[in-house]
Amino acid sequence: MVSAPRCRPGARGLLTLLLLLPLPGARGQCGALPMLSRAVPSDTSRTEGFPISTEVTYRCLDGFVKIPGKSDTVVCLSNSEWSNIGEFCNGGCGAPPRLKSAALSMEDATKNYCPPGTTVSYVCRTGYESTELRHVITCLESLTWSEAPEFCRGKSCGVPKGPEHGRAVDITNDLYGARVNIICDEGFRLLGRPFIQCVLKGHQVEWSQLPTCQAITCSPPPNIANGMHNGGNVEIFDYNSSVTYKCDDNFSLTGEASIHCTPKDNINGVWNGSAPECKVIITQDKPQLALFLACIK
Ligand SMILES: *[C@@H]1O[C@H](CO)[C@@H](O)[C@H](O)[C@H]1NC(C)=O
Ligand SMILES: *[C@@H]1O[C@H](CO)[C@@H](O)[C@H](O)[C@H]1NC(C)=O
Ligand SMILES: *[C@@H]1O[C@H](CO)[C@@H](O)[C@H](O)[C@H]1NC(C)=O
Repeated sequence: MVSAPRCRPGARGLLTLLLLLPLPGARGQCGALPMLSRAVPSDTSRTEGFPISTEVTYRCLDGFVKIPGKSDTVVCLSNSEWSNIGEFCNGGCGAPPRLKSAALSMEDATKNYCPPGTTVSYVCRTGYESTELRHVITCLESLTWSEAPEFCRGKSCGVPKGPEHGRAVDITNDLYGARVNIICDEGFRLLGRPFIQCVLKGHQVEWSQLPTCQAITCSPPPNIANGMHNGGNVEIFDYNSSVTYKCDDNFSLTGEASIHCTPKDNINGVWNGSAPECKVIITQDKPQLALFLACIK
């Protein structure tokens, strides 16, 4: 005996509707991401529950490089399926090494896929030179580049010369990029930068501008009573210049007759001693005159 249905027609219709609906959690979303053997999603923080239109980008595993022109991205489509993605990575060398003295040739600079056997060539950078025109490295089976030494060497600026009253010191080399210190002779101070560098000038190299060495100067020597120095009215006295004092008639000189300009610090000069004094000569028979002479001066 067949029992009568226990459900009312309305309840049966509702059940049918529930069965037709997809699972509530998957509605309008994409599930797990497609798996690739040589690439993984760049962002691994989310593994499921991607809303429609979500884009996910993959990156190649170590040792693999992206094949230009192949897509590395999937999109969650409106039917809750991921768009298609094929393998887009292949074994290859990474970016060729960057060198200080040489740059990748123009045609190789934009190369972004280098499977084994690929060669790239370098040309000397400005300021560097080499006897060979091109230097080539190859992507090896080990997926590494063959050795890439600094192919080119700096151009030479020539032997560095010092300025007048100065010289170049600490000379390690004279090639592009070299730096050489400049010092001034004793009694001269340096104006400008205390070094020169081998720098670019157009496509050639040359030493940068030299500083100058200027004599350290003293202010005029002091004037003294009853005597004078032979320096005249000159305002500035160069390092090493000297002046000599002489007393007027009937006065005698006490102290050093000559003084000379010596370096005080490395900027200013100073006289090496104090000026002498001129003292009246006192004679036994004419003390009055001596006194008189001393008073009128
Ligand atoms: C300064 O004078 C001394 C002594 O006369 C001399 O030996 C020296 O060479 C002079 N220096 C310069 C830079 O002229
Ligand atoms: C210096 O002294 C001598 C002798 O006492 C005298 O004849 C002469 O006139 C004096 N000279 C001056 C410039 O005063
Ligand atoms: C200063 O220089 C003068 C001239 O060069 C020299 O004769 C004198 O002895 C010096 N004085 C001192 C205190 O060194």
